[in-house]
Amino acid sequence: MAKITASVFTSHVPAIGAALDLGKTQEPYWQPLFKGYEYGKQWMKDNKPDVVFLVYNDHATAFSLDMIPTFAIGTAAQFQPADEGWGPRPVPVVHGHPELASHIAQSVIQQDFDLTIVNKMDVDHGLTVPLSLMCGQPPADKFEWPCPVIPFAVNVVQYPVPSGQRCFNLGKAIRKAIESYDEDINVHIWGTGGMSHQLQGARAGLINKEFDNAFLDKLISDPQAAADTPHIDYVRDAGSEGIELVMWLIARGAMNDVNGGKAPILKKRFYHVPASNTAVGHVILENQF
Ligand code: DHB
Ligand code: FE
Repeated sequence: MAKITASVFTSHVPAIGAALDLGKTQEPYWQPLFKGYEYGKQWMKDNKPDVVFLVYNDHATAFSLDMIPTFAIGTAAQFQPADEGWGPRPVPVVHGHPELASHIAQSVIQQDFDLTIVNKMDVDHGLTVPLSLMCGQPPADKFEWPCPVIPFAVNVVQYPVPSGQRCFNLGKAIRKAIESYDEDINVHIWGTGGMSHQLQGARAGLINKEFDNAFLDKLISDPQAAADTPHIDYVRDAGSEGIELVMWLIARGAMNDVNGGKAPILKKRFYHVPASNTAVGHVILENQF
């Protein structure tokens, strides 16, 4: 049967993609940030999964105010990097896993979560920047992402957004779905977005190190406490875009320890401010069996 071997958590920022794409990673502003991902890139090589289930948010790229799915699962065979206004990023096409994605859709919908099934979708920086951070950035024409990726888009852009508790419970349902897939494959589940940031209004530029580090503590050691945090706390303390952090709880809810198993091993914890307007956090947890 399929099993979830690890969860990976990382912020996304479009400027990180631009720094990678324009060869600026060794500039003094960016060097400390990319240094924080050196371990993760090697770890990905050493622990290559068969599939990544990647929880992220679309930024009015594939979806607009015309249609706002709360939870959307990508079931296509391929997802093109999106043009977000300055041309698509020069990164490889993302190959999906239609069989596993369809199985997860069937199982999770039958566990009473309403997913939108997406058979055609371009993927924006919310998905491609975490992939670049963890998998590196050789030239797109000579490089494939290391494995198929199932995109799972969460609405954290237009209110109403899902609660942290609902995201945590959804992670548990996704875990059940993956564990009932009849093939011996290893799956990573990634939670992306966050940490504290606010991109508009009077508080634009807000970053809250104290909140972020307390969130990382809870994410690692007391995820139920993180799930108990009401969405208004994220907005007040972590800024309007800090709400992206609820997506991390989907990945955390899929881990062994919150489903009757052993505590995970913390392989990496990294925090850096700022990257563009955003506080960047990164955690790797390995399941123990
Ligand atoms: C920035 C951060 C985001 O999460 C995003 O989606 C867009 C921009 C920023 O910090 O610039
Ligand atoms: Fe974002």
